[in-house]
Amino acid sequence: EMTPEEIAFQDRIDRNEKIEPKEWMPEGYRKTLIRQIGQHAHSEIVGQLPEGNWITRAPTLERKAILLAKVQDEAGHGLYLYCAAETLGVSRDELLEALHSGKMKYSSIFNYPTLTWADMGAVGWLVDGAAIMNQVPLQRTSYGPYSRAMIRICKEESFHQRQGYDIMMKMCAGTPEQKAMAQDALNRFWYPALMMFGPSDKDSVHSAQSMAWKIKMNTNDELRQKFVDQTVPQAEYLGLTVPDPDLKWNEEKGGYDFSEPDWSEFFAVIAGNGPCNAERLGARVKAWEDGAWFRDGLMAHAAKASERARA
Ligand code: ACO
Repeated sequence: EMTPEEIAFQDRIDRNEKIEPKEWMPEGYRKTLIRQIGQHAHSEIVGQLPEGNWITRAPTLERKAILLAKVQDEAGHGLYLYCAAETLGVSRDELLEALHSGKMKYSSIFNYPTLTWADMGAVGWLVDGAAIMNQVPLQRTSYGPYSRAMIRICKEESFHQRQGYDIMMKMCAGTPEQKAMAQDALNRFWYPALMMFGPSDKDSVHSAQSMAWKIKMNTNDELRQKFVDQTVPQAEYLGLTVPDPDLKWNEEKGGYDFSEPDWSEFFAVIAGNGPCNAERLGARVKAWEDGAWFRDGLMAHAAKASERARA
């Protein structure tokens, strides 16, 4: 049964009031937000790796500048989100420790390799497209700092999605080899992109409570359906084939029927056994360790400064 405090809290949520950092909140609400926002922050930071991989090999100076800007944006998104999580009473060091030790997750999608330049198109188009589909409704999420971070992040994500689609258009208007690369990238990223929305609703352990608290605004399957409906016509415009023989417009529901991803693959990836999990986590841990001298220097400097202030 809910306590009077919890009832009053739920009333505020139901009235669409924003909850702010210093206000009372149920412990479960705080924990769920730390999990989701922290996981989201980690995804932005780990998400720099598959694209960072292509900065040195971008085909033109212009493409290099665009990709560099996009990867820097992801770092910025990670920083806003870590700040939003910190308002809930967890430190950035604790969050990073939980990422590095494998206690916290990051998005499954970043455990797939980026093999060709066309993958930069597919990642922008599909991965950032799926991210926006999930994040636009989160602009209305009940926790103030998270919802405000989402507003800025969504503006930048839209640019990312368009730059990816622009790469796909260029590849598809190019030589037959270039178009084949674009098709191959779509073939490899389609199902992993569908998995980004999380398990099907019947297997989503957190959805019901998170939606009651308006931490989540839609179910996983609702957003996956919207993503398919938006993306299939974009693939058609490119002259590419979505790798799903059972994809079919369903007039009655006003959306596409489509094949589910291989959920055993999804659960293997989030358990740490995807194609690139070890490489991604290894790169993050190495970056943290390589930065130790700098953190130590900052701490030593701060200690000296406070000693001087006391003297
Ligand atoms: N990748 C990794 N783990 C996932 C994914 C995924 N794509 N989808 C679900 N999971 C995990 C959940 O974290 C949960 O595990 P946990 O209890 O150990 O944390 C488990 O699978 C069950 O899933 P749900 O009960 O459906 O989990 P939840 O309600 O948190 O929904 C979702 C998952 C939709 C990803 C939600 O957390 C969310 O909207 N997050 C914010 C957006 C985000 O993180 N985006 C990152 C995408 S990439 C990018 O932005 C660059």
